[in-house]
Amino acid sequence: MRLDSIAAFAAFGLFASAAWAGVGDPGDPEAGAKIFQKCHACHNIGPDAKNAVGPVLNGIKGRKAGTYPGFNYSDANKNSGITWDEATFKEYIAAPQKKIPGTKMTFPGLPNEKDRDDIWAYESSFKEDGSR
Ligand code: HEC
Repeated sequence: MRLDSIAAFAAFGLFASAAWAGVGDPGDPEAGAKIFQKCHACHNIGPDAKNAVGPVLNGIKGRKAGTYPGFNYSDANKNSGITWDEATFKEYIAAPQKKIPGTKMTFPGLPNEKDRDDIWAYESSFKEDGSR
């Protein structure tokens, strides 16, 4: 095999595995901040965030579902076995009740893929302590 065809093959492999993992475009955190207005009725994020109708969303990247201290989660969420990363989060936020049947998050989801890319870019930029 010639070197350039090896490179093309490797590039295709990367692309295919990214698509397989459900990982999309990088997303725009500033656009995500605007979309977060839809979440803000129930969720807080940032340095002074407190649990509300929904749990604080700081440090979501790498967090196990249902583990934010002091929030009363549904069994469905707690027992989902999900660890939040880009792929699991985007699947969830497309249709929360589909990914976690019985969740008490009544939000219907974000049908638009770009919105999901952007909200992940925004949300995952907050560390556990609410700083960015
Ligand atoms: C109507 C209120 C409401 C809205 C709006 C809402 N959520 Fe939620 N969300 C909840 C509740 C309640 C839970 C806890 C679910 C459970 O315990 O079953 C939750 C859980 C979550 C979780 C899981 C957290 C964890 O610790 O496991 C994520 C992630 C999440 N919401 C993201 C979002 C995003 C992003 C938006 C906006 C696009 C949003 N939510 C909009 C109420 C809401």
